[in-house]
Amino acid sequence: MFTSRAALTVALCAGLSSAIPAHAQAQERFGFGREATAHEIEGWNIDARPDGVGLPPGSGTAAQGRDIYNARCVACHAEDLNGPMGALAGGIGSLATEKPLRTVGSYWPYATTLWDYVHRAMPFDAPQSLSADEVYAVSAYVLFRNGIIKEDEAMNADTLARVKMPNRDGFYDDPRPDVFNTACQRDCRQGAKRPVQGPPPGQSDTTGGATGIGGGASPQ
Ligand code: HEC
Repeated sequence: MFTSRAALTVALCAGLSSAIPAHAQAQERFGFGREATAHEIEGWNIDARPDGVGLPPGSGTAAQGRDIYNARCVACHAEDLNGPMGALAGGIGSLATEKPLRTVGSYWPYATTLWDYVHRAMPFDAPQSLSADEVYAVSAYVLFRNGIIKEDEAMNADTLARVKMPNRDGFYDDPRPDVFNTACQRDCRQGAKRPVQGPPPGQSDTTGGATGIGGGASPQ
């Protein structure tokens, strides 16, 4: 037993040491394709993380962003930033009320996400047409109109990552199980009353049991 396992280990190591890179293998096997160059990857690698990693150099204030907003965003998001295509401002403090208004200001936990989103996807009719400075400026404008920063506060890779969004601490792990597994898990063939999956009898909705939201109602 020991001998054969040792032999296998040796064989595996030998295999690894003579391994050729995966991309070369793919090339050989399929006869097409090549490794993407760093320059090619750069074009796709545009995400900005909550801690600011990925944000490029550049800077802009809300005062500068106002003109950009009025030229490039107002048609869809309206002067009050509450247009039908996406509410960008307001609603702060409304999330736990009967009429929650989810906006960048009331809902989004990180200001860097605003930069990332506007940079990659807005204006909707011409995505990625704004310069880094313009995205910083218009992001600053959206934050300013939410009352989160001052009009003359310059946003850049450093300051944007340090903005504390009102709902930063409003997210939590959802502890709901996605299966109801209170039934027997082992050796249940005899005496098992119901299958492991699915809501308990009398509970028709999938969110009910764990949170109490609408739970316990019997289907009529
Ligand atoms: C042609 C219309 C149009 C223009 C112009 C436009 N947007 Fe949008 N915007 C949209 C639409 C549509 C959505 C929703 C997209 C979706 O949900 O996939 C959206 C969503 C957004 C969101 C996300 C809102 C949310 O809470 O989900 C932000 C932020 C945003 N836009 C910012 C901007 C900024 C800043 C500009 C100007 C630089 C801009 N938009 C220009 C149509 C537009």
